[in-house]
Amino acid sequence: MKIVFYGAGNMASAIFEGLISSSLLNSHDIYLTNRSSENQLQDYQEKLNIRYSYDDIELLTDADYVFLATKPYDFDSLAERIKDKIQPGNHFISIMAGISINQIKTKLQTQNPIARIMPNTNAQVQQSVTGITFSESFDAGHKDELFKILNSFGTALEVEEDKLHQVTAITGSGPAFLYYMYEQYIKAATKMGLDKDHVDAAVRNLIIGTGHMLEASELEIEQLRENITSKGGTTKAGLDALKKYPVEDIFTDCLEQAIKRSKELAD
Ligand SMILES: NC(=O)c1ccc[n+]([C@@H]2O[C@H](COP(=O)([O-])OP(=O)(O)OC[C@H]3O[C@@H](n4cnc5c(N)ncnc54)[C@H](OP(=O)(O)O)[C@@H]3O)[C@@H](O)[C@H]2O)c1
Repeated sequence: MKIVFYGAGNMASAIFEGLISSSLLNSHDIYLTNRSSENQLQDYQEKLNIRYSYDDIELLTDADYVFLATKPYDFDSLAERIKDKIQPGNHFISIMAGISINQIKTKLQTQNPIARIMPNTNAQVQQSVTGITFSESFDAGHKDELFKILNSFGTALEVEEDKLHQVTAITGSGPAFLYYMYEQYIKAATKMGLDKDHVDAAVRNLIIGTGHMLEASELEIEQLRENITSKGGTTKAGLDALKKYPVEDIFTDCLEQAIKRSKELAD
């Protein structure tokens, strides 16, 4: 299998590093290119043994999957670069937020199969939640193969294309929202008289441990919370204070704003 990444930035590297760690592919199945940061590609060649090139014919010939991994506003320049060099077997996988399958088809001037995916940076530790949607021309065999690739760095879920805005907000941007919450928790915890480094380490372990509990347990999250909330106890006192604030409304606003922005970017 040959997989090419156009763009080797934060998200692309999370995916190809995740792919290599998963052992589904070996580094020689993967090729990288970018606009001009050749030193970055040399680093990946040295560190991960991944080849790179700026020759599009060499890259696209026999490529099964071609990841479009630039920022959305750089897609026009990427499309200009490759549109005349596309090969019949190239399946395009866009990770760009907000650019529709039709826009990709039009700019690349191609009828080749196209999928859009919305991963998150947890791909780097094989824990991405990845939304995926396919163009009609994507056949079942390639869909299965792509699911295997995506599942090697997390869990992939097929959604209708117009639902990718929600996926972008909830799980694409989601890690940043959770990091922000943890930052506030750490800031508050350091006011409680413990050393900042200890608090930071303790809260990281708290988050990791809670994640493992979610993974291991079949109980609803609400039930897990109730199981540790005794009547008249400390947890109940803290939760009562928390419930004075409109936490759900805060997250509703956060997600609505992210979805709105995703739709604006698509216009
Ligand atoms: N970050 C996230 O959490 C996240 C989550 C889901 C989806 N996404 C999507 O992922 C995409 C990439 O985001 P990112 O954060 O990884 O961006 P990034 O770190 O800025 O990387 C962008 C890459 O695109 C390359 N590039 C730009 N123009 C190009 C061209 N004409 N031909 C080839 N390569 C070109 C850049 O090369 P140079 O370095 O040489 O300029 C760079 O390697 C975005 O569209 C975003 O919507 C991101």
